[in-house]
Amino acid sequence: MNHIVVHRAGGYDRLRLESAPDPQPGPGDVLIAVEACGVNFADCVVRMGLYASAKLYVGWPITPGFEVAGRVLAVGADVQGVSPGDAVVAVTRFGGYATRVCVPRVQVFAVPAGWTMAEAAAFPSVHLTAWWALFELAHPRPGATLLVHSAAGGVGQALCTLGRLAGARVIGVVGHADKIPAARAAGAEVVEIGGPGLAARLRAHAPGGYDVVLDATGYETLSMSWDLLAPGGKLVVYGFHSMFRRGAGRPSWPKLVWGFLRTPRFNPLDMTGQNKSVLAFNLSYLFDRTDFLTEAMGRMQAWIAEGRLGPPKVQVFPFAQVADAHRALETGRTTGKLVLAV
Ligand SMILES: NC(=O)c1ccc[n+]([C@@H]2O[C@H](COP(=O)([O-])OP(=O)(O)OC[C@H]3O[C@@H](n4cnc5c(N)ncnc54)[C@H](OP(=O)(O)O)[C@@H]3O)[C@@H](O)[C@H]2O)c1
Repeated sequence: MNHIVVHRAGGYDRLRLESAPDPQPGPGDVLIAVEACGVNFADCVVRMGLYASAKLYVGWPITPGFEVAGRVLAVGADVQGVSPGDAVVAVTRFGGYATRVCVPRVQVFAVPAGWTMAEAAAFPSVHLTAWWALFELAHPRPGATLLVHSAAGGVGQALCTLGRLAGARVIGVVGHADKIPAARAAGAEVVEIGGPGLAARLRAHAPGGYDVVLDATGYETLSMSWDLLAPGGKLVVYGFHSMFRRGAGRPSWPKLVWGFLRTPRFNPLDMTGQNKSVLAFNLSYLFDRTDFLTEAMGRMQAWIAEGRLGPPKVQVFPFAQVADAHRALETGRTTGKLVLAV
């Protein structure tokens, strides 16, 4: 098989295409001939050597990648419900940038009818992230008002879509005017970051405050997000991308230190007194929560079958041009999901 290997932390040139023996499915495993793999912002952070769970679970060298779609090549003993030739999508705790991937059966799901492999590979990470944020943590009531930062991005669009399916009103923030149509298509009322008075413009959309704010921007927006919450509101923190330089390929240590120092520390006394909560998560530590994975994918696949949830918008790069996909994602100017076609 071929896979993309990062031997040590660095820029785009660290993404090397290499060959390796095919993995063999053990008991309970499914071997997949990959046709498409999803690209996530986290993969760029893995390449930079700053993703803590990558160090915990893999170390160096590492093949990034959290999701693939393709056809089953073989199954190990005790595997039921999938057979060689089936079109499947799977989640992977790293290792997804590969032409062959072997994963436990519980991480494998059918490709929805009529979807391309690229659309299928683009689905799990961002939708499972949005699901955990909304339905495990925030529990928005129908009629709740949600604020989604980076609403035109991969997770951003999934949050808008699932938020609307939960019956919420969604206000989405985007970094550039050319992203407005993408966030609007995902169901958000859109506010562009540029121009003066972002907080005031966001407050004008929800004068009583927001019931839920979903923030992966980090130190640049967290204090504002907290201030915008209504009493009883929840701030869900799931990333810190403002700590990175856009399009630089490598982290800036002064910016990382500055971002770390400027990240607000929330005080339980303030939370109690103001009736506001801060919730946070990183799904890459939660692969053993197979109950969540099975329930969330099952419910979302039912929504897909009912026509309530459509395929993600994808931008496809050839497998060997993975560096271009990382470069594009790190500019912060992409919309939707980036996918590698194998
Ligand atoms: N905790 C978890 O389990 C989990 C799981 C998946 C993803 N995430 C996080 O969710 C966020 C979105 O991930 P994604 O894969 O869907 O990416 P994405 O949203 O498609 O791209 C990132 C977006 O962030 C904004 N941005 C702000 N500062 C940036 C910077 N310095 N460099 C690049 N982009 C920047 C840009 O949108 P605007 O300019 O429009 O704001 C950009 O489009 C990331 O922070 C990621 O780490 C967390």
